[in-house]
Amino acid sequence: MSDTSYLRLSQIVKSYDGRINAVDGIDLDIAKGEFLTLLGPSGSGKTTTLMMIAGFEQPTSGQINLQGRDLTRVKPYRRNVGMVFQNYALFPHMTVARNIAFPLKMRRFAANEIEERVNKALDRVELRDHADKHPRALSGGQQQRVALARGLVFDPDVLLLDEPLGALDKNLREQMQVELKRIHRDIGITMVYVTHDQTEAMTMSDRVAVFSAGRIEQIDEPLTVYNHPKTRFVAEFIGDNNIFAGTVAEGGRVELAGMGPIAVADMSGFAAGASVEVLIRPEWLQIAQTTGTATDAAAGAFDIQITDSINYGDTILFIGRHQDHTIRVRASAVHAGSLREGQTIRLETAPDQVRLIHPNEP
Ligand SMILES: Nc1ncnc2c1ncn2[C@@H]1O[C@H](COP(=O)(O)OP(=O)(O)OP(=O)(O)O)[C@@H](O)[C@H]1O
Ligand SMILES: [Mg+2]
Repeated sequence: MSDTSYLRLSQIVKSYDGRINAVDGIDLDIAKGEFLTLLGPSGSGKTTTLMMIAGFEQPTSGQINLQGRDLTRVKPYRRNVGMVFQNYALFPHMTVARNIAFPLKMRRFAANEIEERVNKALDRVELRDHADKHPRALSGGQQQRVALARGLVFDPDVLLLDEPLGALDKNLREQMQVELKRIHRDIGITMVYVTHDQTEAMTMSDRVAVFSAGRIEQIDEPLTVYNHPKTRFVAEFIGDNNIFAGTVAEGGRVELAGMGPIAVADMSGFAAGASVEVLIRPEWLQIAQTTGTATDAAAGAFDIQITDSINYGDTILFIGRHQDHTIRVRASAVHAGSLREGQTIRLETAPDQVRLIHPNEP
């Protein structure tokens, strides 16, 4: 086991029906105190993975270890793993305090310790005044805080959160994101967090594991996933993008189909003649001048005619055409505010703001 490994999933496969693998061979090493986010489209196996860590589902094959102990066949309440669900899953007939006490009773804590811990948990989520209410008398955000308190009250080694903010409106969601990060920082607990909101994944996580069809396409720090996606799927799933087909040429260049050569700083792992996919995020392109002509375009520069623009206030996204390609470029509103639809503009690529992706990986 590596030094950093605290929670380890090895070669985990889960099939519900014996035909299709909902989780298809996952390896994960999660460090103590880490905030890891599982990000991916609907049906990619995120919840299934959490349920296996929690013990509510059994892997078809593979192993789960926590601090070196094999958990694979251990009952959920003997794992010391907490879980928070999207739909709160509170007991409607119990008060807030009794909901939070429930995992402690399951684990046969003494009555005085239960009281002490429940009060501490209520304080942590700022719900002391609501202890005697029933869940139906609380707002969505408050109910989610009860679920969070219930997940944390027995000091689990790991807290699993499955889209915990999915049902909340935008403002409450941002408030809870801040609160969750604060709790993570305060108690240093290992968290595995599921979302399909890429912004949430980017802002909250130490690392992001991008799921697709039961596999992990990439696991890295958020900015690495954004700036250096390993696969086209990751490049498209996270952030806005332009992706072009190209061929690696000599001299640090890539020939873009129908667009000519551009200089690329990092070509490691790509041999001359290889087919590649070329990622250029909209904000990586520079608007060089507002009245270019295609004929004198230097390598790495090309013209587009603006067909649409979307003003976000701080930035503007321009969508334009260059031959058969639709191109997206994002610029600061201060610099590009005067550009209009119908206008032709010159775009320049920077060699270190271009990423090459193997076309068929994995
Ligand atoms: N209890 C179950 N019985 C049978 N199939 C299931 C069960 N739970 C999930 N699946 C299937 O397993 C696959 C992965 O589902 P899972 O719930 O893990 O996806 P997810 O990434 O959490 O998706 P979402 O973002 O929609 O919550 C899907 O094809 C789903 O239909
Ligand atoms: Mg799910």
